[in-house]
Amino acid sequence: MSQTKIFAHRGFSSQYPENTMIAFQAALEIGADGIEFDVQLSKDHVPVIIHDQTLDRTSTGSGVVGHYSLLELKQFSAGSWFHEKFKAEQIPTLEEVFLWSKNNALQLNLELKGYVWERQKMITIVFPLIKKYGLENRVIVSSFDHKMVRLWNEQYPMIETGIIVKSALYNPESYVRQLAALGYHFSFMSLTMEEAEQLIKSGILLRPYTVNQEKWIQIFINLKCDAIITDYPDLALTLR
Ligand code: G3P
Ligand code: MG
Repeated sequence: MSQTKIFAHRGFSSQYPENTMIAFQAALEIGADGIEFDVQLSKDHVPVIIHDQTLDRTSTGSGVVGHYSLLELKQFSAGSWFHEKFKAEQIPTLEEVFLWSKNNALQLNLELKGYVWERQKMITIVFPLIKKYGLENRVIVSSFDHKMVRLWNEQYPMIETGIIVKSALYNPESYVRQLAALGYHFSFMSLTMEEAEQLIKSGILLRPYTVNQEKWIQIFINLKCDAIITDYPDLALTLR
């Protein structure tokens, strides 16, 4: 089995404003294997990269992301909340990330967020973009919306998917299989070591999040998880 991959959570988010191009570029430059980022739809149905449902924490905007058109979202700084020197950062679109990714080989973990009543719209918009940029073998689609993951797999089984979970599930293996997914993106303290080993043995790809402490990074590397999702890809790379 190959070594545990290091995915930069929202880009290199401990040093750069999360979910911005500069955070993704920094992750690439330090040698991360992949980036995880959050995808939502703008008012005019353009997939944009931002974590919260609202703009307030990570941009100069205010209110619900989905209430703004792309043109409006582009007026806000997505970097100045972190530091003045990043004020030129904008909220990226998914397509901008895909364009940029043509010049590198990073794995792209798209975490699809949004309203459950827009889940089919999200799938219908995101898949053609993956196809347009020939990224079928480099993306991993994941979501807390497990129904969306199942629907995705029914429609586009050639794309790898994972479910994101916060709680400890009773039988993660059968649940993941029921959704036709491969990845189990779990909150890092929600599995015992025995359960984790058993899941790896049965072929489930374990990707704990958000693993920022040295002790835990080391544990998951030793376990040979498929990937670790971390805000500190620099630390994880050093430990690996
Ligand atoms: O994809 C793993 C992790 O990002 C899920 O939680 O809230 O950081 O998007 P959150
Ligand atoms: Mg996320």
